[in-house]
Amino acid sequence: EAGFFTYDPGFMSTASCNSRITYIDGDEGVLLYRGYPIEQLATKASFLEVAYLLLYGELPGEKDLVSFERLIMRHTMLNENLKNFLNGFHYDAHPMAMLMGVVGSLSAFYHDSLSVNDPRHREIAAHRLIAKIPTIAAAAYKHSVGEPIIYPRNDLRYCANFLRMMFATPCEDYKPTLIAEKAMNLLFILHADHEQNASTSTVRLAASSGANPFACIAAGIASLWGPAHGGANEAVLDMLLEIGDVKNVPKYIEKAKDKDDPFRLMGFGHRVYKNYDPRAKIIREVCYQVLDELADNDNPLFELAMKLEEIALNDEYFVERKLYPNVDFYSGIIYQALGIPRNMFTVMFAVARTVGWVSHWMEMMDDRIGRPRQIYRGPSQRDYLPISKR
Ligand code: SDX
Repeated sequence: EAGFFTYDPGFMSTASCNSRITYIDGDEGVLLYRGYPIEQLATKASFLEVAYLLLYGELPGEKDLVSFERLIMRHTMLNENLKNFLNGFHYDAHPMAMLMGVVGSLSAFYHDSLSVNDPRHREIAAHRLIAKIPTIAAAAYKHSVGEPIIYPRNDLRYCANFLRMMFATPCEDYKPTLIAEKAMNLLFILHADHEQNASTSTVRLAASSGANPFACIAAGIASLWGPAHGGANEAVLDMLLEIGDVKNVPKYIEKAKDKDDPFRLMGFGHRVYKNYDPRAKIIREVCYQVLDELADNDNPLFELAMKLEEIALNDEYFVERKLYPNVDFYSGIIYQALGIPRNMFTVMFAVARTVGWVSHWMEMMDDRIGRPRQIYRGPSQRDYLPISKR
């Protein structure tokens, strides 16, 4: 019935490209960036080191890293007119809406990095996106709480600068604790890339028409926002708050299994992992350390999440379908412990994933335009009737 095409809804078994960036073995729970195990990168590398690796294919030498860090930090400022753009958003706009709009609008500001056929333009665009996305994200947050934007400080490391732009005010500076900076660095590394997930595939498809990089990343942000993808980290916290108490967990497990009920366990299940998501394993471990260091070790949401996991992983429904916690299950608990509000969780994901999106964008420059086919199921040919005859 599919004619010459293979019908593959949801792209369950279609490889859309060749890529040299990220490898996943979903059955074994393995994730490698450019061949390096995620467990090693997450504990040993800095986020910009990983960004360099994803972009250029090799870990940087000491000098390369210093100049890459300088290059990125030099591009952290936003054009001052962007403040007017942000101010146009309603005070209660979701920060993802602002992020999507402002990143897309960069196309209107940086004409010297829009020519996708020029390798120098491409590289400047890549650096600008990685450098400016934390500034935009923090500015969106500041707008949502009615505080003045805090400008970047280029002498700080990437994550420390980001936390400062989030939490400093003109009246009081903010110096993140080492544990906060370390936790953010780790979460950013874990979220940096994940091969052909929905948002990265969206970026590649948008880019295949030759659209400019800022527009393509805005498309990726749009795709990430949904609760089945990056929006799940915010949805997990909503879910945990709704469950409220360990004693309610069994009731919600039953709801998640009920096919007549739209409720699903957020942060559970994955298209590729039919085993524990290796990122979730790392985040779960780090949750203990972060909460311990922040003297928040009887955090009720963490207890609730662990109970939920324990019951689900012993339930036939979840076992049969190989549904395990994914990257979004525990990340919100750390973000919350660091004082990041819930509506910023998906924005945090977007900041980190920009590195992956940009790397895929760089990689696919010579690909042909993406153009899937369809199985047409509409009416066969018929004649137009004047409105009086319908
Ligand atoms: C991310 O792709 C990536 O790499 C994404 C990501 C990245 O880094 O880019 O890893 C980030 O997006 C993580 C996923 C975040 N989303 C959620 O946590 C939302 C909850 N999860 C699900 O909606 C779902 O598991 C998906 C979207 C993650 C995966 O969807 P699939 O592959 O289409 O799987 P499916 O919906 O067909 O599920 C298979 C079965 C179904 O049951 P049956 O029809 O076979 O009886 O498992 C059930 C589903 O109903 N199921 C769940 C469930 N997830 C799947 N049942 C209850 N709760 C769930 N969470």
